[in-house]
Amino acid sequence: MSAHLRLGVNIDHVATVRNARGGIHPDPVQAALMAQAAGADGITAHLREDRRHIRDADLDGLMAALTIPLNLEMAATDEMAEIALRHRPHAACIVPERREERTTEGGLDAAGQDNRLVPLVERLSAAHIRVSLFIEPDVRQVEAAIRLKAPVVEFHTGRYAELDGQARVAELARIADAAKLAVAGGIEPHAGHGLTFDNVGPIAAIPELAELNIGHYLIGEAIFMGLDASIREMRRRMDAAR
Ligand code: PXP
Repeated sequence: MSAHLRLGVNIDHVATVRNARGGIHPDPVQAALMAQAAGADGITAHLREDRRHIRDADLDGLMAALTIPLNLEMAATDEMAEIALRHRPHAACIVPERREERTTEGGLDAAGQDNRLVPLVERLSAAHIRVSLFIEPDVRQVEAAIRLKAPVVEFHTGRYAELDGQARVAELARIADAAKLAVAGGIEPHAGHGLTFDNVGPIAAIPELAELNIGHYLIGEAIFMGLDASIREMRRRMDAAR
């Protein structure tokens, strides 16, 4: 059980807005510094193969500017492995990536991709980068993560966020069970995707979870209440649920 539930703020969509006009404003590094000042425990950024939001230069800026840990989300490719090894972020979260998807739509098939993931987890771990596998809250996937010796898993909460009623309750139980299984296997469980002010509470209440990574909603809410206030409100709701 981890008492303080860490909040990682994903700043990808600040870069999405910037890229819409091709200029330098708004700057995701400035947003990351604001998030740090608002109490974020870490910053998360996904360097996608197509560079649709975060770009390589943003990584340089984030590594130079931040005093809190950077969690680099990356696909399991050689290109991304080289970039991670060059930048040495605190953590790297391996995510599945398909060019046509709008966002990361499902978890990594850790159980089906052992061969490709084994050397990647080893290389990143040898460079003291804390590897996380973004997986569905599923027994097979957690067992695969244990086999792969990943120190962290992040459970995809996208299904939970989309469901309601009994189906949501069942998905929540699946996440809670997977978190217990991870801890029993020596893995630190995190969670994220699709979390909002309204749905974060039950996830934050799962005692085994050590970190939530939240982006789209916080950046969207920043339009209405400001980034500082949206992060502080998320923090407040997480603490209240704990
Ligand atoms: N965690 C991972 C691994 C992700 O890929 C994403 C989306 O980039 C998030 C968390 C954050 O999801 P959201 O932007 O829906 O809060």
